[in-house]
This record gives sequence, structure tokens and C-alpha cells, in this order.
Amino acid sequence: MLNALTPQAPDKILALMAAYREDPRDTKIDLGVGVYKDASGLTPVMRAVKAAERQLVETQDTKVYTGLAGDPAFAEALSTLVLGDARPADRLACVATPGGTGAIRQGLELMRKAAPGATLWLSAPTWPNHPAIAKHLGIEIAEYRYFDAETGGVDIEGMHADLSRAKAGDVVMLHGCCHNPTGANLTLDQWGQVADLCVARGLVPFVDIAYQGFGDGLDADAAGMRALIAKVPEALIAASCSKNFGIYRERTGLLMAIAPSAAELKVTQGAMASLNRLNFSFPPDHGARVVSMILTDDALRADWAAELEEVRTGMLGLRESLAAALRERTGSDRFGFLAAHRGMFSLLGATPEQVEAMRRDHGVYMVGDSRMNIAGLNAATVPLLADAIVAAGV
Ligand code: LMR
Repeated sequence: MLNALTPQAPDKILALMAAYREDPRDTKIDLGVGVYKDASGLTPVMRAVKAAERQLVETQDTKVYTGLAGDPAFAEALSTLVLGDARPADRLACVATPGGTGAIRQGLELMRKAAPGATLWLSAPTWPNHPAIAKHLGIEIAEYRYFDAETGGVDIEGMHADLSRAKAGDVVMLHGCCHNPTGANLTLDQWGQVADLCVARGLVPFVDIAYQGFGDGLDADAAGMRALIAKVPEALIAASCSKNFGIYRERTGLLMAIAPSAAELKVTQGAMASLNRLNFSFPPDHGARVVSMILTDDALRADWAAELEEVRTGMLGLRESLAAALRERTGSDRFGFLAAHRGMFSLLGATPEQVEAMRRDHGVYMVGDSRMNIAGLNAATVPLLADAIVAAGV
């Protein structure tokens, strides 16, 4: 049986992690996988997470199974953080999932079950695992224009034109904030335009929000998505706690489905719980419990939000200094978009050859499409990266 298997194409983000690890140069710079690093290159456990974990160790008296949908307190706390005032309590179905990727996988399975002939529309470009999971599930995919390489911003006309070709019932994957890989985000007004288009054409939005709090702040990052869900009859939302709580390996995520009316809620919730059962039975609980403890305790929550804000403003500072270093070296503002982008990533706009030259000559590791993880930089490496970019002729 197993001799029938053929080698898997490597995941380009994970392959890059391995290549970086093997590079012996101590001047190497890791701008690959989307993991936050502080100025000393570490990915610390956040203070509030440590405190909640200590409390949990002391107070938890059983590790018996939770429900198939996970702990309801987690679903309530995280869905409130994500959806805010727009949270439609009587139409909202939630299941905890193994990370944000698990929420995407479960959401796409739900889509396939509910609308087998629907097409999934993905931004060009998008996170490579979006099309990979959809293809694995046999879901038809199509792309809509999104990134304008000339301006480093969003090509809203192209997006509108392409989505105008989608058929009723198709699903449109949107990045809630901090677009991965480009760093270019819809304005509030553009979110409104996308919402109107979804309503007019009967499209179902599926929002992937994996970086809430990394762009303009916890509420500001969710504002566009909240405006959208206030308008559309139904939607799917996949949220991740990997980045904003720094609990990558705990696999903590939530799939939310907004049903058209309260009448469909029970069946929707049941379908989601059953998909959990079929794929992994009960979702992981440790990270979810830590998150709900933090979100429901005033002191822990304030400390977490303060630390997240330090992370966010630190990344903004790195963006500003990289844009300034490139302005100084090139005498032009053509890299100014780096300061305007939000979140962990920016698409630099380098060719694969230039990306390769930066890796070979300067030990700079970015994804082949020239996606850079800004959080992989620090004050000392910003000038080195700026030199590498200029030397590669980007
Ligand atoms: C990334 O895009 O680097 C992260 O979302 C990590 C991953 O799983 O790819």
C-alpha cells in the first residue's frame, strides 16, 4: 500500500524554516514563518499566559473530555473578542478547533457539506495553505485580484470585477486584517463595498482572522469584518489565538458560523460538532482554557492587551525604520508602502532570483514570493536587510 505514495511537494513556508535552521552563518536573518520574535530573537510566552497557566495547574481538577464543540466559555469569550458588538448571539454557531488552520479546514468541510458545487474565491495572492486545503478537499477554487504591485495597496477595482463573476452561493475567503502575505488591507469603506457585493450577488464571506491586534489594534483590526457581518445574512469566520496570545503550539482556534436566522442555528451547530467528531473528536483544551481565563479576568486581560500592544507598536516601529533605511539608501520613497502595510507581513516585490541572491549573499530568509515577516527584524538587522535589498537590485 505505502509504496503507492509519491513524494509530497514541500510547503514553501515550512521548507524555509528548515533551510534557515541549517544555515551556519550567525548573521542570518529569519523573515520566514509568521512567528513573532522580540528584539533578542525569542518568541516569549506572554505574561498573562504564564499567569493563567500557573492558575490552571493549581485549580484544574480533571482533564476529562470537554464537549465536541469545546468549552462554551471559550467560544463565548473569543467570539466576543472577535465579533464585538456585531456578535449575533442568536445566529452564532461556534466550535473550538486545533488552531486557526483547523478552523479553516473545518469551515471548508462545512462549506463542502452545505454547498457541494460552490466555488471558493481566494485573493491573489493568499496564504498557500488556503488553496492547499481546498484542493485536498476537492473544492473548486478561483482567484480574485487583490494586490496591486505598483502601489503596494489593494486593487479594489480588480477585486470587484473578479468577484462580480462569482455565482450565487460561492464562498469568498477574506483576510480579516494583516493580509498574509501582502500586508495590504481593505479600508473600512472597501469592506463596505465587499459586503454590498456579497449581498447583491448572494456570496458567502469566509473571514480568516489570524492576526487580530497586530495591525491597528484589537478593535480596529476587526472593524471591517464586523461591518461586513452586520450586513450579510450568513458568514463563516476562522479565528486563531496562535499569534495574538503567542500560543502557537497549543493549537487554539475557533470556527464561527453565522446562520441566516435563529431557525438554522441548531442544525448548523450540530453539523459543525459532527465534523469535529469525524476529524479529531474533541478539540484541544489547554490553550482554549488559558484564553478564556485571560479574557474573563480584568487584570489578566489588561496585562495581555498591554503586552500585545507592545508587540504591535514594536512591529510598526520596525516598519518605519526599514522604510526610512531604504529611503536613505535609494533616495526615493518607493518602499514607503512598507510603513503603510499592517501586520506581520509585507510583500517586498522582489523577483525569485533577487530573493535567492539575498539568501545566498546575505543570509536573508524570506519566502520565495518575497513575503517578509517584519517581526523577524530588530534594530540591528534593519540596516543589514536594507543593504541586502539594495545590493540585490530590488
Ligand atoms: C505563516 O503564514 O507563516 C503562518 O501562518 C504559519 C503557517 O502555518 O504557515
